[in-house]
Amino acid sequence: MIRKYTYGNPVETGAVIQKLPDETQPFSLMQLDETQDGIRLFLRMAREDAVYGLGEQVRGINKRGFTYISDALDDPQHTEGRHNLYGGHNFLILDRKKEPSFGIFVDDPSRTVFDIGETKLDELCIQAGPDCVIYTVEGESLKDIAKQFRELIGRSYIAPKWAFGYQQSRWGYACAADVREAVVGHHSRQIPLDAVYMDIDYMERYKDFTVDGEKFPDFAEFVSEMKAQGIHLVPIIDAGVKMEEGYPVYEEGMREHYFCTDADGKEFVAAVWPGKSLFPDVLNSKAREWFGGQYRFLMEQGIDGFWNDMNEPAVFYSERNLKKVMKELRSIEDDNLDLYAFWHLKGLVNGLENNPEDYRQFYHNMDGVKIRHDKVHNLYGYYMTKAAADAFEHIAPGKRTLLFSRSSYIGMHRYGGIWTGDNASWWSHLLLSIQQMPSLNLCGILYTGSDIGGFGCDTTQDLLMRWLEFGIFTPLMRNHSALGTREQEVYQFENTGDFRNIIRIRYGLLPYIYSEYMKAALDNEMYFRPLAFDYPQDAHAAQVEDQLMTGSSIMIAPVYRQNATGRYVYLPEPMMMVRMKSLEEKTCTVLEPGHHYVDIALEETVFFVKKNRMLPMAVLDEDVRNISGVDMERLEWIGFTDTEASYVLYDDDGISKQYAPKENWKKIVRTKEALDVTA
Ligand code: NOJ
Repeated sequence: MIRKYTYGNPVETGAVIQKLPDETQPFSLMQLDETQDGIRLFLRMAREDAVYGLGEQVRGINKRGFTYISDALDDPQHTEGRHNLYGGHNFLILDRKKEPSFGIFVDDPSRTVFDIGETKLDELCIQAGPDCVIYTVEGESLKDIAKQFRELIGRSYIAPKWAFGYQQSRWGYACAADVREAVVGHHSRQIPLDAVYMDIDYMERYKDFTVDGEKFPDFAEFVSEMKAQGIHLVPIIDAGVKMEEGYPVYEEGMREHYFCTDADGKEFVAAVWPGKSLFPDVLNSKAREWFGGQYRFLMEQGIDGFWNDMNEPAVFYSERNLKKVMKELRSIEDDNLDLYAFWHLKGLVNGLENNPEDYRQFYHNMDGVKIRHDKVHNLYGYYMTKAAADAFEHIAPGKRTLLFSRSSYIGMHRYGGIWTGDNASWWSHLLLSIQQMPSLNLCGILYTGSDIGGFGCDTTQDLLMRWLEFGIFTPLMRNHSALGTREQEVYQFENTGDFRNIIRIRYGLLPYIYSEYMKAALDNEMYFRPLAFDYPQDAHAAQVEDQLMTGSSIMIAPVYRQNATGRYVYLPEPMMMVRMKSLEEKTCTVLEPGHHYVDIALEETVFFVKKNRMLPMAVLDEDVRNISGVDMERLEWIGFTDTEASYVLYDDDGISKQYAPKENWKKIVRTKEALDVTA
């Protein structure tokens, strides 16, 4: 049961796809106060109640005990005290033990605050508006509420099948030779690989939709050379368009008034990678169509995947603010700075970046309506991504194109995925990325994953290995790292064979991962779920913050602590533990429900299969190089049953948008004796 309540005069965000009438009864699920500044919603939570959702945020799966803010921000410090990350995912479910649970979605693209028991331990307080739409979702169970919400916001984006393979990225691959080296590095060690990413260095001085001809002399030829080796190249596209006379994207955008403007209608100038830049007004349908059309330049050269970056949008400094700060700096040049004066100086310089005041200085033309950016701030990444996705319908009709974004808002999940941005090579960030997955899935974002190995800081062999052992299960499995950090392609380390084994396990599991992804997308289900969603009657399941139900058959329990040779795992029901050193070396043991200490050596992948369920595992040749080497017909069935186990297998051509209808999903049943791998 979904109810809709409208306050003030909200903009149409495009988050939901169902047209619902406004509720005639007053809002009653929470105490609602309407003030001049906006809406305040309050609710007392019982101590045992849990809160799930909010997508991309820090901290645990149960969001109680902190204030989360939706206010898209480019900040790599994903530490415990960080209130906002890159997205605005304003949906949460309140899991109440003594009263009915419900979900609430606050469709407000400006700054929205969720104080979930930080100010008052047992009080939930949401601040939004004054212009917003609130949807409440009541249902029979957490899963039912989640599904209804997903039906409200529409089907999740579906990536091409190759984008479920292993992908390598690094900020620092500066020319064709660097990319070739990464490919050879994998292939010469028989490590499968499906894609290599091109970060900002491929462009001509960071200009979107250009390729530096010196670094990539014949780009189209290079793209096909890579394709011939089974490698897709995935270039980055940034939100800011460089101001430069003679640069067609800039000139055309200026001529047609496609960029965001200041209050007086003059283009708003802010600096990003290329220095002074302008932001395409992606909230304007004409400008959006124009910007999306620019992707054609790369697609005509064979590109079939993109990642959209810096689209919070990130601002290094605005022209206006820089002038002001420089003037002030000059005025204190000769001062003897005491404590407060020095702090002020630091604040001036640090405050240049992503300054909230700058977001109040520019405007969108939302098809005739002038709107100040901060009122729709969280929509920018969404509409930049929609620009691309809409354009792909014309440029590559009927075909899936890989697309994911850094910033997003609910609704963007229909057009692309996200990655979780600039994490660090910290063990705590491995745990964080495990915890972010179900929250993102709840908000519809299924095609997602974190920078494996960590983006900032230097990774270590053990961290990368443990991260990969988790990354095996994330739809987006991409190793990415920052400029200047230790090189972290798997072949940079000793024991390359162990890395190869882990990555091959991903390819072996591909029939499962792809099936589960597709079923989740087509059926509005969650691919990753907190245990509480599957075991609502089990009080302990709700306490588990580091294990995830993954698809219909398995539970994962990754190791995320350094030097750990195992971990405690909680089993809500009997399960079969599958321990894999490689695709070919596995052991299976049935464990009773309860707590177990499980030894998990550094190079081992362990997961748990539910009773009467099973999963397919592809049998791979030694020389499999990419997804095309995974034969969906050559499967081994792993499962655990006293009688028979079943599985619904999904497959399609992996590239067209002709998804298999439900009647073509194959239900496979095996008796205990007929299972290939059992305990
Ligand atoms: C920020 C992105 O989050 C990161 O992944 C990328 O490498 C850098 N921008 C450089 O483009």
